[in-house]
Amino acid sequence: MVHKPVLLNEVVEALSPEDGRTYVDATFGGGGYSRRILETARCAVYAIDQDAVVKQYFDELLQSFPGRLNLSISRFSKLREVMISFGIDEVDGVVFDLGTSAMQLADSSRGFSFMNSGLLDMRMCSSSSRDAAMFVNTVPEKEMADIIYQYGGERYSRRVARAIVDARRKCKIRNTGDLATIIRSAVPRSRVHPIDPATRTFQAIRIWVNNELEELQAGLEAAAEILKIGGKVLVTSFHSLEDRVVKHKFRSLCDMGFSLVNKKVITPTDEEIKNNPRSRSVCAFTIGVFRVKFYVRDMQKSLVQVQKEIVKVNDEISALRAEWTALNNPERLTMLAAKYLRVTTT
Ligand SMILES: C[S@@+](CC[C@H](N)C(=O)[O-])C[C@H]1O[C@@H](n2cnc3c(N)ncnc32)[C@H](O)[C@@H]1O
Repeated sequence: MVHKPVLLNEVVEALSPEDGRTYVDATFGGGGYSRRILETARCAVYAIDQDAVVKQYFDELLQSFPGRLNLSISRFSKLREVMISFGIDEVDGVVFDLGTSAMQLADSSRGFSFMNSGLLDMRMCSSSSRDAAMFVNTVPEKEMADIIYQYGGERYSRRVARAIVDARRKCKIRNTGDLATIIRSAVPRSRVHPIDPATRTFQAIRIWVNNELEELQAGLEAAAEILKIGGKVLVTSFHSLEDRVVKHKFRSLCDMGFSLVNKKVITPTDEEIKNNPRSRSVCAFTIGVFRVKFYVRDMQKSLVQVQKEIVKVNDEISALRAEWTALNNPERLTMLAAKYLRVTTT
């Protein structure tokens, strides 16, 4: 099973890789984006993925692009440290292709899909402290309902949480098949949106297990920090929660000297939706850095320097004042007058 990348042409075209440049593929997966970037220009790609299963796809791709591809099994939030460990402090572009890969969905033992029953896991990174079993068997009912509502947009979240808690009182929930059955019993099937009633709750649990929104926020911050003048960050997002984090972050970056490269978001063509139905809800956002970022950064550095100098000069003034007061002490002046001018006061 190989992952079919979404918006591949559009994203790589917007990134416009050039010879001799350096790019980060923050979501390596099956390596589809990395491959296209490396094919487009004689550039270097630093790939990151928190899921160690990607190593096999990396090894394969490396054979076609020796010396131009590197991998770190790590998370978005560690992006800056990863690049420093490679000895790189600035890059020309960063791409994030959010969501799960086809390989993760297809491996039922990992519990991402309710199509085939599997372990209640859903961790993208095997060393994560949270998993889906922890969510369904330990999280209190009210907190569970809030998470299912916020991360899954499930309007029957209270009913779902109640059904899960009732079921776990009887016996521990052991696999995704049982969980999906419990959820389906609590959510009526919609005629308007004929998706499986378990979809939204599974999405919420996956986001909670992998801390996805906080990771995305931290990853975008790190990407903005390491971007060169003229560099771009591209994010392919799958649902409105991700869209919201990206838009909010990009808006705040625009106040700091970044500019949106495309005012309009990139969406898939009808042809792509037909060939790859998974792409139907996807869209990509782009942001670029221009000189003003460095102007602002330089101004901030100068401001800090001026503030330090003000503190130093104020210290010197205080020291001079103290000295002046000591020199003008009347007793000292009387003593000096008596000694050198032979003047005495009565
Ligand atoms: C949709 S797939 C990427 C597919 C890839 N663009 C391709 O062409 O094959 C998303 C990948 O991002 C990884 N991922 C998700 N969140 C991550 C995070 N916070 N840090 C690192 N990798 C992450 C997942 O493990 C998954 O392999």
